[in-house]
Parts: sequence; structure tokens; C-alpha cells
Amino acid sequence: MSLGVVFYSRSNNTRTGAEYIAGKVKAELIELTEANGRKGLGGFIKSGYQAVSGKTSALIGDPWKEADKHSALYLMTPIWGGKTTPAMNAFMQNADFKGKMVTAITFQADEKGAGTKVTYDRIRQIVESSGGTFVGGYALHSAAPGRFAGKEYIEKQLDEKYLSIIKNS
Ligand SMILES: Cc1cc2nc3c(=O)[nH]c(=O)nc-3n(C[C@H](O)[C@H](O)[C@H](O)COP(=O)(O)O)c2cc1C
Repeated sequence: MSLGVVFYSRSNNTRTGAEYIAGKVKAELIELTEANGRKGLGGFIKSGYQAVSGKTSALIGDPWKEADKHSALYLMTPIWGGKTTPAMNAFMQNADFKGKMVTAITFQADEKGAGTKVTYDRIRQIVESSGGTFVGGYALHSAAPGRFAGKEYIEKQLDEKYLSIIKNS
């Protein structure tokens, strides 16, 4: 099975997790890069508004072509406003998930994973409506907006809440 990790990260938490997973399961890293920046307080406010209203953003390059090569995809994104990010929305909206196994892994400030149940239902709907299989979603804790939780903390959670589960299944 050929694996791809499609990820978006503004403050490096999701990036750190994506790099760790990709190394562990031998997957290609596919980063979603936005055409427009999100720096500072203005960027934060814009981001919250866009996420809450389910907006997409313009992406640079062709992540869809890179993802096409793989039979299984990880979708990794922070949770913003209880939902997926505009970059991940843009990817999912135009992706062809036909025949692919899709797993979502999200990072957020809330330790209890607020919003993820509805978010994973939405991802499942998108994946299944384009012919893919949604394997499941894993909600991980990171840090407050703009903060970095640290490599060790992120990797430990992935070990405990995801990698140990797939190892034993
Ligand atoms: C615009 C914005 C909105 C956010 N909304 C939420 C939220 O609704 N719930 C939550 O738990 N964390 C929220 N966060 C925190 C992020 O999910 C958290 O900081 C995450 O680690 C960011 O990932 P990254 O470092 O890969 O960019 C938000 C962060 C930003 C920037």
C-alpha cells in the first residue's frame, strides 16, 4: 500500500506530527501551502472567521496530483473554530478519494477534542461521496493558537493514541 500524509500547519504542531507519522509508516509528505499569509492578530482573526464559515483557501502547487499516487491518505490539520482549516477544506473539496483509505488526525488546543465528532462526520461524508473509505479520526492535543506544544509531547501522543492502536490491530 502506498501512503501519503496530506497536512496543513500554521504553527508547526501538525507539521511535527505529520513528519513523525510519515517516518513511522513510510509515507510521502504532501504539504498544503496557501497563496495568502495568516501572520499576526489579523491573520488569526481572518483564519477563525474563514474556518467557522467553512471557507476554502487558494493553494499553491498541485497537492491533488501528488495525492493521486497513493492508495491510503492521512489528512492532518489543526482544528480551527471547531472545524477543519480552509486549506484542508480546499484539498478535500477537489480531491478524488475513489478507492482510497482515508484517516484523519487533528490537533487542537482543547484537550477533550471539542468539535471533532462533527468534523470527522463531515470528512467521512466528503470521502465517501467521492468513493473513498473513511477509516476514522484521531483527535490529539497540541497548544493554544500560535504556540508549539513541543516535539516530544506531539510524538508521545501519536505513539499512545494512534501508532500503538494500529500496531495491535
Ligand atoms: C484561527 C484559529 C482557530 C482555532 N480554533 C480552535 C478551536 O476551535 N478549538 C481548539 O481546540 N483549538 C483551536 N485553535 C488552536 C489550534 O487548533 C492549535 O493551536 C493547533 O495546534 C494549531 O496547529 P498548527 O500548530 O499545526 O498550526 C485555533 C487556532 C487558530 C489559529
